[in-house]
Amino acid sequence: MPTKQALSIVVLISGSGSNLQAIIDAIESQQLNAEIKAVISNQPEAYGLIRASKAGIKTHTLNHRDYNDRESFDQALIKLIDQHQPDYVVLAGFMRILTENFVTHYQYRMLNIHPSLLPEFRGLNTHQRAIDAGRSEHGVSIHFVTNELDSGPMVIQAMVKVETSDTAETLADKVHQQEHIIYPMVIQWLAEQRLKFINEHLVFDQQSLRKPLIWDNAHLMNPNS
Ligand code: GRF
Repeated sequence: MPTKQALSIVVLISGSGSNLQAIIDAIESQQLNAEIKAVISNQPEAYGLIRASKAGIKTHTLNHRDYNDRESFDQALIKLIDQHQPDYVVLAGFMRILTENFVTHYQYRMLNIHPSLLPEFRGLNTHQRAIDAGRSEHGVSIHFVTNELDSGPMVIQAMVKVETSDTAETLADKVHQQEHIIYPMVIQWLAEQRLKFINEHLVFDQQSLRKPLIWDNAHLMNPNS
């Protein structure tokens, strides 16, 4: 039987790269039919670069400090990514605000993972902010990237319970566990074309995604059905 062509992706990171590792592992265990063409970090010391090298994936460091402004950095980044001609760009802890030109260039082709139940807690320190706000539920969102920070068509949210004993660290751990399940899963949906844009509308299994899918207690729920 001919194997379907793998989805090609470039993954952008700035740090530990545990989500990158989850994607690598899912590819290796054949749960994800994708090929990581390259991993790019803006931080030379990002541990994710080591993870990628260990997996035999091409890595690049593009240090934003070597550029005068955001626009010239993002243009260099576009050039680097496009050398690999990926189907999708996957942001996995890439801690940079992207320019409008960059986002427009990858419109409908760039995913981000954000550690909160968006639209709540855009930006940084989401776990501590969820605790400070007294939330009993927190979580993670995967969305396509638009020009508004941590915004754009939402694919899925995973929930975690916030216990009174939770600290930002324990909550981050719980959120990470969910991230490592749902990011490879969403990328596999792209590979299978279960998830795609049709006429600028996000569609999952032939159904318009007006509300994000929900991953709760290892169950997938579709509030659009
Ligand atoms: C994750 O919590 C992700 O949601 C956020 O940055 C963190 C990256 O973690 N965007 P890692 O580098 O994948 O371990």
